[in-house]
Amino acid sequence: MYYSSDVIEEIRFNNNIVDVISSYINLKQKGNSYFGLCPFHNEATPSFSVNESKQLYHCFGCGASGNVISFIMNIENCDFVEAIQILASRINYEFPIENTYKNKNSSKKNILYDIHALAGRFYYENLKSEKGINARNYLEKRKIKNNTVIRYGLGYATSEWDSLYKYLISKNYSLEDILGSGLVIKSKNNKYFDRFRDRLMFPIINTIGKVVGFGGRIISDSKNEPKYLNSPETLIFDKSQNLYSLNFARKSGLKEFILVEGYVDVITLYQNGIHNVIASLGTAFNDNHAKFLKKFTDSLILCFDNDNAGIEATLRAIPKLSEQGFKIKVITLNNAKDPDEFIRIFGIDAFKEKITNAKSHILFQINILLKSFNLSNLEEKIMFTNKVAKILSSVNSEIELDVYIKEISNITGISVDAIKHDIYIKNNIPKKNAIKSYNKTINKKQNNYNAIDKAKISLIYLLANYKKVYKGVNTYITPEEFENEIYIKIVQNIYDLYKTKDFINLAEIVSYFESKEDQQSVAEILNLNLTFEDEKSLEKIVNDQIKIIKKHYIDKKITEIDDMAIINKLLDQKRKLEDFFIILH
Ligand code: CTP
Ligand code: MN
Repeated sequence: MYYSSDVIEEIRFNNNIVDVISSYINLKQKGNSYFGLCPFHNEATPSFSVNESKQLYHCFGCGASGNVISFIMNIENCDFVEAIQILASRINYEFPIENTYKNKNSSKKNILYDIHALAGRFYYENLKSEKGINARNYLEKRKIKNNTVIRYGLGYATSEWDSLYKYLISKNYSLEDILGSGLVIKSKNNKYFDRFRDRLMFPIINTIGKVVGFGGRIISDSKNEPKYLNSPETLIFDKSQNLYSLNFARKSGLKEFILVEGYVDVITLYQNGIHNVIASLGTAFNDNHAKFLKKFTDSLILCFDNDNAGIEATLRAIPKLSEQGFKIKVITLNNAKDPDEFIRIFGIDAFKEKITNAKSHILFQINILLKSFNLSNLEEKIMFTNKVAKILSSVNSEIELDVYIKEISNITGISVDAIKHDIYIKNNIPKKNAIKSYNKTINKKQNNYNAIDKAKISLIYLLANYKKVYKGVNTYITPEEFENEIYIKIVQNIYDLYKTKDFINLAEIVSYFESKEDQQSVAEILNLNLTFEDEKSLEKIVNDQIKIIKKHYIDKKITEIDDMAIINKLLDQKRKLEDFFIILH
């Protein structure tokens, strides 16, 4: 243990758990305890309780419990020693000097913290020195002001091969620790050289205020090198447990954070008075980021770059965030590639207006869909409404849902009722067992057929028996897609008959075939007596089968064709099948 038990107890005792936890979440007194929304899992009603007399917390929802030190370790994602340091500084506690003896891992971490603090200062001094002239010019070009440089601790790594390495050696750090920091690399022929050379340096600071890594940007765009280099993960740097500028965003006093892509975007916004801004650290925003971030806020505005990669990154981040219960809005920048450029061209007030008018992620996603489907094509319109219904089925509030539905109806011309109907379908998936028992019947009766043929046989049976199936599917699946000669002929006949009739006399179809064998196969299908539990199941069964049949048909075609353009088209069709859903009326 790094600190003696007396010291730890004194620090714990002087940090009242109710005060400490209150500075993170809202607590309300109820009887002997205080209650609030648990910061460690996503919930809508408070099940997180803090007991003042016991000085313990417990969450009835997720089971998290502990004392004030555990709370800090969990919420700040830090180890025991760091938690003690945070609590100590909260009460301005002065450590007795003789009381610090070392624990190996904590001391390793502390050495890496020290190395990073020194490196940060080293880079900063470079920037201020004669060697830093190009970097200073670059900062001026990017309109990054001196007080921003100081606030973010920006620096410059010179083009020398090993200046940081030599500096750290001169400070008596061991090779093991220097390499462990990730700032120095050992070459194949056992030479040591600095990871970052001739780059503008952005220190990455964790939530307890320590430098844990760096991002480095080239300053001359001509170079044939990656624009950014980032520190590797180390004992003190986990890329999904840190976000750029989170230390400042937390102090902004604002509950809603803006998530951008780039270091420079963050800095430009901060410099213009917008302090609740963060970015991920050279990696895509992932589930762990979302979980980590939930400890600090539950409301985000996404403002990624205005290009395809940015849109895709936004679309990928949304489900990760909504799974963690975030309220999500999205800003789309037009006529500028990223927030930094937007502000440079249109000014900070224009950006603030963007913040005020940020759209909910639902409308953002729907706008994207609008661009990718051609609504004058019936098939695509169905896919569009299905996608929309899927997105909307995640909306919990009726009022909110009504607003979106009206908006979508306005944009698309699809009636409010039709959209509601689709959402209903998405939310009313038939019972698994209903489908299972249907499939069981087919399996029993058509034991000797493969899965594709079973799907075909079953669909033919349903087509022959229910005109609504025919009405729903005849424009989506052609007789040819049933592949086998007999099947094609039956389906063709069914389609023809329904053009003038409401019911089909099954025996009539049999007599369209002349050989005994064919008649036998046809009659077998029409005799199946398949039953389904309810209309929902029928709809699901029909859709499942069409997908199986179409997929097989496309696969077969792909193997037969050599033309890459056509193959790509077919692959695209196959992808679109995923979102295909026919509603039977
Ligand atoms: N990034 C990276 N490695 C690269 C390019 C980008 O790690 N080769 C990360 C960095 O964290 C960067 C972010 O992705 O900040 C966004 O990239 P980009 O938009 O290119 O960076 P900006 O910060 O906008 O930089 P600049 O405006 O200077 O071009
Ligand atoms: Mn950018």
